[in-house]
Amino acid sequence: MRIIKLNATDSTNRFLRNLSLDSPVEDFTTIVTDDQTQGRGQMGTSWQSQPFKNLTFSVYKRFDGLLLEQQFNISMAVSLAIIKALETLNIPKLSVKWPNDILSDNQKICGVLIENVIKQNHIESSIIGIGLNVNQLQFEHFPKASSLKKITGVSYHLDEVLHLVLKQLQIEFKNFNKDNSLLKASYESYLFRKEKPSTFKSAEGLFSGIIKGVSNEGLLEVLIEDQVLKTFDLKTITLLY
Ligand code: BTN
Repeated sequence: MRIIKLNATDSTNRFLRNLSLDSPVEDFTTIVTDDQTQGRGQMGTSWQSQPFKNLTFSVYKRFDGLLLEQQFNISMAVSLAIIKALETLNIPKLSVKWPNDILSDNQKICGVLIENVIKQNHIESSIIGIGLNVNQLQFEHFPKASSLKKITGVSYHLDEVLHLVLKQLQIEFKNFNKDNSLLKASYESYLFRKEKPSTFKSAEGLFSGIIKGVSNEGLLEVLIEDQVLKTFDLKTITLLY
C-alpha cells in the first residue's frame, strides 16, 4: 500500500483524483496531509480541520463489475471500517448517522466523502475521503463536533490511528462482495437513532418517524405512521433529533 504524505494541500480528494487522471494508481493508495486548506464535505459543504491535529486523508479503491445501484455498499463498508478501527481504541458509543457520519454518543467525530468514477453504469473506482477529528479540542462554530481526544482525554499518534483505519478498510474490502446482506445488517446495527422516535426536516416541514433501516440503494427507511414505511434520499431530509 502506498501512502503519500503532503505537508499541505487544498483537498486530499482533489489531489488523489488528479493523480489518478495522470497515471494508473494502485489500489489503496493513500494521500494524507497535515494541513488541508480547502477540504470538501458532503453536498457541497466544506470540511474544516485544524492543521496537525487531525487526520484528513483519501484512499483510492478500484472495483470490478460493481453496479451503480450497489454504490451504497461502499459507503457501508467505509463506515464500518472506521467504527471497527475506533472500537480498537475503545472510543465509546459509536454509531453511524446515515449515510456516513461517524458519531461518538451524539457528537460527530468523522465525516466521509466518497467520489466515484463511473463508466457504463459501473463504478470503476472510488476516492474515499475521510476527515477524522483526533486531537483537536476546540470546535467553536460546530457545537455538534468532537474529537477522539475531547471524548477520552487521550492524545493519539495520527500515524497509528491512520494505520488502524487503513487496516480495517482492507479487511472490509476483502470481504466485500455483491451480496450485501451481512454488510447491511452490520451497518444497521450501528445506525444512529434506529428504532427511536425522531424528528426530521423536509421541504414540507417537520415530521416525526422511526428509522427502521436502509434500502439496498442506501435510502433511509422511516416509519412515518403506524403502517407506512417511506424511503428518503439524503437530499430530501435531515434528521434533527
Ligand atoms: C462530511 O461530513 O461532510 C464529509 C467530510 C469529508 C472530509 C474529508 S477530509 C479528507 C478528504 N478530502 C476532502 O476534501 N474531503 C475529505
